[in-house]
Amino acid sequence: MSGTKEDLPAQQQLAAQLAHAQRLESLGTLAGGVAHDLNNILAPILMAIELLRSRPNNADDEHLLAMLRDGARRGADIIKQLLIFGRGMTAQRSPLQPRTLLKEVARLIRETFPKTITLAPRFPHDLWTIEADPAQIHQVLLNLCLNARDAMPHGGRLTLTAENAVLDAGTTPTDPPPGPYVILEVADTGHGIPPAIADRIFEPFFTTKPPGRGTGLGLSTVLGIVQNHAGFVRVHTEPGQGARFRVLLPALADPDASITPASLDPLARGNDQFVLVVDDEDCILTVARRVLEANGYRVLTAANGAEAIVTFSQRPAEIRAVVTDMMMPLMDGPAFVRGVRQLSSDVRIVAMSGLPAEQDTLNRSGLRVDAFLMKPFAAQQLMLTLQGPCGTVPPP
Ligand SMILES: Nc1ncnc2c1ncn2[C@@H]1O[C@H](COP(=O)(O)OP(=O)(O)OP(=O)(O)O)[C@@H](O)[C@H]1O
Ligand SMILES: [Mg+2]
Repeated sequence: MSGTKEDLPAQQQLAAQLAHAQRLESLGTLAGGVAHDLNNILAPILMAIELLRSRPNNADDEHLLAMLRDGARRGADIIKQLLIFGRGMTAQRSPLQPRTLLKEVARLIRETFPKTITLAPRFPHDLWTIEADPAQIHQVLLNLCLNARDAMPHGGRLTLTAENAVLDAGTTPTDPPPGPYVILEVADTGHGIPPAIADRIFEPFFTTKPPGRGTGLGLSTVLGIVQNHAGFVRVHTEPGQGARFRVLLPALADPDASITPASLDPLARGNDQFVLVVDDEDCILTVARRVLEANGYRVLTAANGAEAIVTFSQRPAEIRAVVTDMMMPLMDGPAFVRGVRQLSSDVRIVAMSGLPAEQDTLNRSGLRVDAFLMKPFAAQQLMLTLQGPCGTVPPP
């Protein structure tokens, strides 16, 4: 780039874009860290609630337990949003025809939005296929439509459109790479976004809504999901003139590719086999032991990898499965998994973590585990992963 006067505004714009990207990046890292700790706190709470609910309770306790469970689940949902923003959430992708989703969202809007808002949907029949997680793209569209609704308290027009587009090479590093895209667009005729806050709207917890009305996680979740799908979000707005959000998602080159979901066997009880549970969090060990023992397993525990290797080496043939945390002091998860694999190539290994990114680390390390459990998980999930060849880790 030459440094002439004419280039200056472009350079300033680029610098501002980079600063913005860096700020969002560090917020993402922070969000990921917080989410990991909170998942570790919620995991034993959720499992303990399930255990208590499986016992005979009086009606009052039942009610309290349901309340506790709902609260813990809500907490887990918020953490999931934070992780999506921090790009730590892996999407369950499959080839997707966006038209189906758009129709669903349009129906939802017609049924639930105030009648003062008129919906103008327009999406062609021949939209290209994208590779995407349907639930996440649904959430993107819904979050954008909810914002549009909130920007038009006295009514207005909500436009929901989609189109195919082939993009040329852009002129700045933040432009999308050239190629085929499906562009989803949500536009409203509401109050628009004032320039003073325009570059903050994607930050987590940034909201202009009154306390209790908005969490400020809507757009940060949108951005996290879209970036996770190698896509881009563009905003056009003028105060008083409404806002237009465009989501660009890369179209699929080979729409015939299909993915078969793993099948789950609902009968998953142990048969007095040993399971070794390794975690440096005491309450996770305690609750996992109770859950496993209540479901027909015998349980050994260890607080770190070194201790667990000793325990494992004492009875390698008797231990059916090892359930281990991935982030531990002394010997981390991957080192421990490597050690166990050296002692036994066929023991079932279930890795658990509060951070989905750990799964990528594990995959990259080439270590073979049989399943990956995202904390917090339900007792039933733990049982299923112990039982058969299922889980969230795709076969290598
Ligand atoms: N279509 C829109 N028109 C005007 N302002 C918008 C629009 N979309 C977003 N904003 C602004 O961006 C802010 C952040 O949006 P975001 O969706 O992240 O959070 P929120 O809507 O305030 O809360 P939540 O999504 O959790 O309900 C909003 O508070 C609002 O000020
Ligand atoms: Mg919102």
